[in-house]
Amino acid sequence: MMKKINRRGFIKGSAGIGGLGMFAGSLTGCSSYPKLEFSEIPHALDQQHHVAPNHNAQVLLRWGDDLFSDKEFDPSRITAPQQAESFGFNNDFIGFMPLEDEDLSASENYNSGNSERGLLCINHEYTLPHLMFPGFSDEEDGIANANREQTEVEMQACGHSVVEVELRGDEWRVNKRSDYTRRITLDTPCEITGPAAGHPRLQTMADPSGKKVLGTVGNCAGGKTPWGTVLIAEEGFGGFFMGNRDTLSEQEKDNFERLSIGGEDSRRWGKTASRFHIEWEPNEANRFGWMLEFDPYDPTSTPKKLTTLGRFEHEGTTIVAKPGEPIAAYTGDDDEFQFIYKYVSHEEYKPEAEHLNRSLLQEGVLYVAKFNEDGSGEWLPLVHGQGALTEHQGFVSQADVLIECRRAAQLIGATPMDRPEDIETNPVNDCTYVMLTKNKKRKKSDVANMRPKNTAGHILEILHPGVDGKRDHSSQTFQWNTFALGGHPNSNKINDRGFYGTGPKGETVSENGWFACPDNLAFDPKGNMWVATDGCEAFQCHDGLWAMPTAGPYRAIPKHFFGCPQGAELCGPEFTPDGSTLFVAVQHPADVEGSSYDKPAHRWPDYDESLPPRPSVMAIRHKDGKMVGEA
Ligand code: FEO
Ligand code: CA
Ligand code: CA
Ligand code: CA
Repeated sequence: MMKKINRRGFIKGSAGIGGLGMFAGSLTGCSSYPKLEFSEIPHALDQQHHVAPNHNAQVLLRWGDDLFSDKEFDPSRITAPQQAESFGFNNDFIGFMPLEDEDLSASENYNSGNSERGLLCINHEYTLPHLMFPGFSDEEDGIANANREQTEVEMQACGHSVVEVELRGDEWRVNKRSDYTRRITLDTPCEITGPAAGHPRLQTMADPSGKKVLGTVGNCAGGKTPWGTVLIAEEGFGGFFMGNRDTLSEQEKDNFERLSIGGEDSRRWGKTASRFHIEWEPNEANRFGWMLEFDPYDPTSTPKKLTTLGRFEHEGTTIVAKPGEPIAAYTGDDDEFQFIYKYVSHEEYKPEAEHLNRSLLQEGVLYVAKFNEDGSGEWLPLVHGQGALTEHQGFVSQADVLIECRRAAQLIGATPMDRPEDIETNPVNDCTYVMLTKNKKRKKSDVANMRPKNTAGHILEILHPGVDGKRDHSSQTFQWNTFALGGHPNSNKINDRGFYGTGPKGETVSENGWFACPDNLAFDPKGNMWVATDGCEAFQCHDGLWAMPTAGPYRAIPKHFFGCPQGAELCGPEFTPDGSTLFVAVQHPADVEGSSYDKPAHRWPDYDESLPPRPSVMAIRHKDGKMVGEA
């Protein structure tokens, strides 16, 4: 029944688009998915944040907040050592890791489900010198002309923060005396693990072993595991390296070009630290572009780079772990015409085997998705020696396949997508959802990327064999359909005309309910999808958060819940296990044309003349203590 309703809605509104495949063809028609009750907020574009009525949004952590003391932030005096002890810039992924008792293991703490005390694990993706320091006219100026001192601050402002938080009454507090507090920066020793560890292409002058690397950068989204570890993605790492690619071997030149490493527009960090200069140290960039795993419950733990998950611009990784079955890890490569990946472990997940579970991401098979016109799909294995992945094509071992994952995926016939961002499995129906943010460069549409010059992005739904709630995530085949297309439902331009679900009485998206450019997503405990956006300002609306059921009569009809201050994108939506708090990360506020430290477009969230706009994490709660999203 759902299938019919949604299809009718789509076809009615879509006259003129050729090549319609399957749309919103829900195979799940269950009525236990009610409408979301909160009252929508309007589309807007101003200097404030906005949250749905009856909810409070508390500013919890801001760039520059000292994590160890209550010392006031003075941006005019910030130094690298100070930044290393303070909350970093451009907060992105947020993982809430419950904390029950210091004496429990990581897995026991994680699975305690405590929703009133936990560790917030937060990525800091990149820096914007023109909004961090005085004297720069715009982003280009800041990136080209940041001095050594400023670059050193920037290097400490990227990476990750672990902060202990506790709910007191209706407010969250940061515990600045916590033993768990930690910053991971470009100085943090990390271990390289898996098939590419130690490979000659990963060996450098500073590390002839090819197994030890300092730090991580470009940390966009991430993930969590049920054994109590956190996953950190390395996304746009290429732009942190400078230098001329023509100086490289043919193989590395192709590798670096595919990942936009070095070149004209990159940062000049190589002048401060030679490892970021590809002419000085050509192999350093092969040690970035991986996923990392670390244990936030042990502040001395060493983060591990997981070469099993491949090297590309990882948006994040989401784990599906069921007792007695191999785990699946979904990860997208966020660039135009890049791919959707799934890793399946060799060993099974056993909840009680905490130590063994820590090697589940060390041995397994990486697959890449191919979408077929008939609504079926295949996961193609990226295994050395299979298909085109041979020495003849320059792949001498599995390490080469993983280092040059993009080339390998293209060679074996994976489907190039419109910028795959977050991928998550809905814990209620066990279907997997892929955010495809946009791709203006697409000339020809295909069945899984329906619009040429896709300016507004879309969402795919992947169904593995099985029934709702019990799907086989290790399967090499799947069914799929287009869940929603971002954009205005009545736009007269095909490339940004949105399509959403239709309710039983013809209900459809409201004037404020449509969104564009889906980026991150989260599911609440009822299985509702919450989509955070990055790119709505091109449609004269703030970026923010929209929520919708994934099944039932109101499937794919979004409602607008939160809006960012101008210039910001929304990242990291993360619920506490009980759904009573929703954490969000407001990234790069006031990052609009003409805005700078000296003349910012606004000064959110402090609105203090002595402070610049500051990326911040917020905690959202219902005023009556109900679940977030209730009326
Ligand atoms: Fe860092 Fe793909 O957004
Ligand atoms: Ca993102
Ligand atoms: Ca997510
Ligand atoms: Ca983004």
